[in-house]
Amino acid sequence: MKVLVAGGAGYIGSHCVRQLLAAGHEPVVLDNFVYGHRAAVPAGVRVHEASLADPAALDRVFAAEKIGVVMHFAAYCYVGESVAEPLKYYLNNAAATYTLLDAMRRNEVKKFVFSSTCATFGVPAKLPLTEDMPQAPINPYGQTKLDVENALRALARAGEFSFAAFRYFNAAGAAEDGSIGEDHEPETHLIPLAIGAALGHRPPLQIFGTDYPTPDGTCLRDYVHIDDLSRAHIAVFDRLAQPGAALFYNLGTGAPTSVREIIAAVEKISGLSVPVKFGPRRAGDPPALFADSTKAQTELGWKPKFQTIGSIVETAWRWHSAHPQGYADR
Ligand SMILES: NC(=O)c1ccc[n+]([C@@H]2O[C@H](COP(=O)([O-])OP(=O)(O)OC[C@H]3O[C@@H](n4cnc5c(N)ncnc54)[C@H](O)[C@@H]3O)[C@@H](O)[C@H]2O)c1
Repeated sequence: MKVLVAGGAGYIGSHCVRQLLAAGHEPVVLDNFVYGHRAAVPAGVRVHEASLADPAALDRVFAAEKIGVVMHFAAYCYVGESVAEPLKYYLNNAAATYTLLDAMRRNEVKKFVFSSTCATFGVPAKLPLTEDMPQAPINPYGQTKLDVENALRALARAGEFSFAAFRYFNAAGAAEDGSIGEDHEPETHLIPLAIGAALGHRPPLQIFGTDYPTPDGTCLRDYVHIDDLSRAHIAVFDRLAQPGAALFYNLGTGAPTSVREIIAAVEKISGLSVPVKFGPRRAGDPPALFADSTKAQTELGWKPKFQTIGSIVETAWRWHSAHPQGYADR
């Protein structure tokens, strides 16, 4: 199947492009390169440099390619920035997504896979998080993703589309062969920051809060490998054949992992020590977030291959140690 991968030059999108190729599909990338990397897209994959917010450009892409499914990874992802500059997020993450959906409608492309997030849940009353738990985002980033989820529900009900929205927990790791990996600027994710601190090209790792009600006092999160995320996106294709399908899945390994456990894993795998700096809690960080992914496992036959934090950090270490400056080193 020909798959338009919006945001296919970004971290998760580029890994998904490779998984699509491996599964025999034909990915086509759409990215405006505001954050993406050309080197992350495999040779031979067609790239359309355009913004989702440009309806004429989208029409040209849909006219040039016979697209079966759109996978939508393109968004801004900085929670703090979304609080400081909310309109930037409402425009790019919500409004531009509606522009994309409208272009799909005009061009009669009816299957959509959406990158949503556990941030749509806000601070959970109960853990692990199942799909049906109340969603109450606490920042504009999470809110824009929930807005799109709600728009998709309405469109599916109206018979316009079938869709799957995947709520990722903490996407992590890199391609197993070390060829592509994470390169965000600025970087806010714990594993690349810990590895960068160990390698000495980033400052000591800042730990926000050591007095949470968790076993070691630091926050617990659910780290899921990007190749596992990608495989779920492909496994859902059959279900999108059902017109009006409206599918939501939480994707995580279900294993809560603390900040200190991440540091221990990086130190074990790298043989280096991670310099750390302790600071107070950060406003808006829930003590723990982890997924119940039973629904994806039952309905999609999805099972994360990377079940331990060590196996995830190992792939990240392979990428970051070979490319300490990310794609600038390739
Ligand atoms: N990284 C995580 O842990 C995580 C967790 C939950 C959800 N998500 C979601 O997954 C998706 C991908 O995240 P990522 O970490 O790969 O981000 P990323 O920044 O690496 O990739 C996003 C890509 O989208 C492109 N893009 C942004 N706006 C665009 C526009 N208007 N038109 C065209 N291209 C545009 C960027 O250039 C970039 O290549 C996002 O939607 C994010 O909200 C990520």
